[in-house]
Amino acid sequence: MKGNRGIFIVFEGGEGSGKSTQAKLLYEELVSKGWPMFLTKEPGGDDGVCKDIRTVLLNPKYKGSMDPKTELMLFAADRAQHVGQVLEPEIKNGKLVICDRYEGSTFAYQCAARGFSIQAFEMLNQYATGGLKPNFIFWLDIDPEIGLKRNVEVSKRDRFEMEDVSFHKNVRVGYEEYFKNMEPRKYLKLDASRPIDELHKEIVLKVVYMIRSGLY
Ligand code: TYD
Repeated sequence: MKGNRGIFIVFEGGEGSGKSTQAKLLYEELVSKGWPMFLTKEPGGDDGVCKDIRTVLLNPKYKGSMDPKTELMLFAADRAQHVGQVLEPEIKNGKLVICDRYEGSTFAYQCAARGFSIQAFEMLNQYATGGLKPNFIFWLDIDPEIGLKRNVEVSKRDRFEMEDVSFHKNVRVGYEEYFKNMEPRKYLKLDASRPIDELHKEIVLKVVYMIRSGLY
């Protein structure tokens, strides 16, 4: 890690892609190696403001009544709080920070699936993040038909899991668009239908290689 600044690694993917599992497995593996780690997620990456914003965002009772602009701005508000109060301080502290979802989710869900313009996304996101970009992103790609079946039972679905399969197909297309314009050395696309353990090994090897070879 260069200087004292840490590293910021993000996991992105659709519903049921197993990214939360992979983020946690990576965190545990690197903690066991004695590395300075921090695991977090969006939305809801602190015990206060973010957690409360998350509760509003995911509440199934707002399906059909939350204005898409409100949704977009609540994700931006969650991110502003998370960047300012959690991510920046932890990265400055020299931690290897793993975050389950970040701006790629807004691009895929709010732009591609809800229809917001890329300009609206870029403006709000830049304001919320102050330009903080991940050093590296693992993209766990899954066919939504499979991902949604893997996910929680119907009665426990949150507001996004309740959306139909065509919404989630648009999310997948959105991710393709988001990564299409990104430098290939900045991300790795993984087939999320592969066995958990196999994916985990590949992810750990990639992170250890990146750090040991001084790429970050
Ligand atoms: P969460 O319970 O964290 O689920 P997952 O395991 O799928 O990450 O739910 C977060 C939901 O919020 C998820 O459906 C994706 C959505 N989301 C957005 O629509 N935009 C965003 O910017 C973020 C961070 C998440």
